[in-house]
Amino acid sequence: MSTTQTFSIASIPADGVGKEVVSAGRRVLDALAGSSNGKFAFDWTEFPWGSEYYAKTGLMMDPKGLEALKDFDAIYFGAVGWENVPDHVSLWGLRLNITQNFDQWANIRPVKFLPGVQSPLRKADTTELDWVVVRENSEGEYAGLGGRNLSGRGPGNEVALQTALFTEKGCERIMRFAFELARTRTVKKVSSVTKSNAQQYGMVLWDEVFNRVALDYPDVQTESVLVDAMSAKFILKPEDLSVVVASNLNADILSDLGSALAGSLGLAASANLNPERRFPSMFEPVHGSAPDIAGKGISNPIGAIASAALMLDHFGLHEEARKVEAAIEAATGSGHLTRDVGGEANTEDVTEAIIKALTLSPATV
Ligand SMILES: NC(=O)c1ccc[n+]([C@@H]2O[C@H](COP(=O)([O-])OP(=O)(O)OC[C@H]3O[C@@H](n4cnc5c(N)ncnc54)[C@H](O)[C@@H]3O)[C@@H](O)[C@H]2O)c1
Repeated sequence: MSTTQTFSIASIPADGVGKEVVSAGRRVLDALAGSSNGKFAFDWTEFPWGSEYYAKTGLMMDPKGLEALKDFDAIYFGAVGWENVPDHVSLWGLRLNITQNFDQWANIRPVKFLPGVQSPLRKADTTELDWVVVRENSEGEYAGLGGRNLSGRGPGNEVALQTALFTEKGCERIMRFAFELARTRTVKKVSSVTKSNAQQYGMVLWDEVFNRVALDYPDVQTESVLVDAMSAKFILKPEDLSVVVASNLNADILSDLGSALAGSLGLAASANLNPERRFPSMFEPVHGSAPDIAGKGISNPIGAIASAALMLDHFGLHEEARKVEAAIEAATGSGHLTRDVGGEANTEDVTEAIIKALTLSPATV
């Protein structure tokens, strides 16, 4: 008799549309588990952390929160940021607190073009486009190093230093990750994003490590592209891309560009991975709390649902992950689109369409 495999997931919807899209993703995963004939199940625990929690406690999360999270199989995150808390306080107090302390050093951000969703790129109408941004997620420009000083000298005299950190170890592990990922893809190519013409210390180390690691992967094509040129390439020659590896800030910016090219920030998925599995990994849409549309029920749930598919991959449920992706494509392809991608459907309509496509799929597991 087969036993049910239960995955324990900590959900942190946090702020704004984060709550709407996490709820949508949970429903999709529960529907998937419900049709698995007892093969697997999800055991959810929701944490109330975020900007409302801050308003009550002065903290973004429980001081013992990391301890509470560390034994979960994964974390499913919404988005953080609201007007009552400065953005750097909310981000560092919750999301970066988790990614940094759980050493989630690899951030995977696929750029997917969906049927029925119009891309602002004319090229996307006739060219198959599909690439993934691999973001170094533990150091670089978001290492949190620096400080502010000299405000005592009076108005206009304060200084601030924000230091980017590049370690050989940090560069090497993200590059090896990118090369291994490239080997699993049809086009085996890694594009390294650099700015070593201007940033002569950190980015030169980045380039040197890239060139050294590349020698171990002779079957994978490589290129090294300056970040400014890469932003142009995303638009003019995206068919040349397969795996794009970049530092924390560069990848953050480029992946938003990628999702905008695919049609909307609301479509973009991401996985913050601790590849050694010493800590739980965290899955979240790329977008923020979208205060302009929060509470209206019109947010696009696809970024969060596609992030849930990445979580299924992390659990080894690859067939199920592909089923969720196929259900997303079936929903968009049949015109279930929220306003950000030119439709009139709301969050609920799109979620329901995805669940329906999932549970009607002939390959029900
Ligand atoms: N990972 C995170 O938690 C994260 C990421 C980015 C920004 N933020 C925070 O979110 C807040 C708002 O930031 P912002 O406005 O720069 O970025 P944002 O991603 O929240 O919104 C940018 C634009 O994209 C749209 N958008 C975002 N998600 C959408 C969705 N699911 N469906 C449809 N449209 C969507 C918004 O309506 C807005 O027009 C800030 O406090 C910021 O610090 C958090």
